[in-house]
Amino acid sequence: GLSGAAALSRRPPVTGDELRSAVPLPPAFTVPLPVPAVLKPVGTSGGVDRYEITQRAVTAEVLPGVRTPLWTYGGTFPGPTIEARRGRPVTVEHRNELPVPTVVHLHGGRTPAESDGYPTDLVLPVGWRDVPAGHGGHGMPGMGGMRDPRARTTNLTREYTFPNDQRPALLWYHDHRMDFTAPAIWRGLAGLHIVRDDAEDALGLPSGPRELPIVIADRAFDEDGALAYPALDPDLRERPGVEEPYLAGVLGDVILVNGAPWPVHEVDAARYRLRVLNASNARHYDLEVVLDDGRRLDLVQIGADQGLLAAPVTHASLPIAPAERYDLVVDFADVPVGSLVRVINRLGAGRTRDVLAFRVARKAPDGSRVPEVLSADLPSWDRADAVRVREFSFRAGQVNGGHGWLIGGLPFDPARTDVTVGLGDVEVWRLVADVHHPVHLHLVGFRVLSRSGRPPLPHDAGLKDTVSLRPGEAAEIITRFDGYRGRYLFHCHNAEHEDMGMMANLEVV
Ligand code: C2O
Ligand code: CU
Repeated sequence: GLSGAAALSRRPPVTGDELRSAVPLPPAFTVPLPVPAVLKPVGTSGGVDRYEITQRAVTAEVLPGVRTPLWTYGGTFPGPTIEARRGRPVTVEHRNELPVPTVVHLHGGRTPAESDGYPTDLVLPVGWRDVPAGHGGHGMPGMGGMRDPRARTTNLTREYTFPNDQRPALLWYHDHRMDFTAPAIWRGLAGLHIVRDDAEDALGLPSGPRELPIVIADRAFDEDGALAYPALDPDLRERPGVEEPYLAGVLGDVILVNGAPWPVHEVDAARYRLRVLNASNARHYDLEVVLDDGRRLDLVQIGADQGLLAAPVTHASLPIAPAERYDLVVDFADVPVGSLVRVINRLGAGRTRDVLAFRVARKAPDGSRVPEVLSADLPSWDRADAVRVREFSFRAGQVNGGHGWLIGGLPFDPARTDVTVGLGDVEVWRLVADVHHPVHLHLVGFRVLSRSGRPPLPHDAGLKDTVSLRPGEAAEIITRFDGYRGRYLFHCHNAEHEDMGMMANLEVV
């Protein structure tokens, strides 16, 4: 029952170093920052907004003058943004015109299990009557996953229901097919889903053109302009040494923000709200905002993965792991007009040190504020509430004689229930890592209680759905499993680790 993960683990899709692009790259801070379009509902009935998204292959100019084939939600990368209101459900009908099956998951959503995008709940490509035997989504030898009899549903279109009955937050939707999530996201299957409510709107935070989504993702480009991905490249697959247990995940040498390389955005000398998502497969960033004269601007954190903090937290720099989100306010008021303000990645080297930049274009009035109290509805669970403490290791291991990534010593198996929790139960989970693993739980938000016996870090504040475990670290999280019963997941959100087995089933009963 390990066909997919095992097949992948024999062919690690990783080179150890970052992939090098083979096309001309633009100078940093020359391409304008795009903002993903907001999707319009096709209709509204009974207080439910209905959306439709066609998943399709397009060719787009990601790099100036270079044509790049992408897999997209609705024709763009990132896909269109869904703007939702707390408590107002939406349905999204996904139609699959891609050449491979897909699965849609709303990351951070409190979603009924049947709409949560279980990795074998496939949306088959339009035109497929039956699944071709032995079809392998990106040409991996031995992939028989699509004949998997455990696939529960096989539709050409699929309607997902998202209740949005949750704290306002920046969520994102992305592909989640078993064994193929990493290459599917890499090729473009990711988009934003923002939940808002009246209380947040009333805070007076920067808004309108002064609220920007910042979706950061690294990529690399082949000489023909296509996105490079190691498993697609037969030469690389056969290269000696690729079986080493480095398996860091796939890294590119181009940093895209909202789908554009090292973009620049013109701003007023005023506060901006930056809603940052690390949509990279494997790259970690440590973000810092610097001026030409070496000065640094504060990153005022107002929210975490699952919405607003109780009170703002100020950072000089901010680490962000794959799938994490930070809601930040940066104030350009004291920056001289004409200055370039760069957002850099302190973990990057050379060109991957640059991320994006803001050009302060003009003085302008600013009626926004950052209140001392942001929200009062954060859950207050503590250890005394927990009915159970569990421990899970996140470690490299052997899968059918090859390298894989394991939780509690086991690779993902859709036929096995790893954890059963009671609806409404509060639990403490201790997560132990060998190397960096950003660990994500579906359905719930959690608080970080400790890191290797020490208090959580400043950026652990608030309600999270992804915690970045550092090498050798043991972190404790606490959550309450409420919302819905059914089968959910927890996994590493290094997308290659996830595809290579580092995922487990969580059953809420
Ligand atoms: Cu962002 Cu299980 O996913
Ligand atoms: Cu991992």
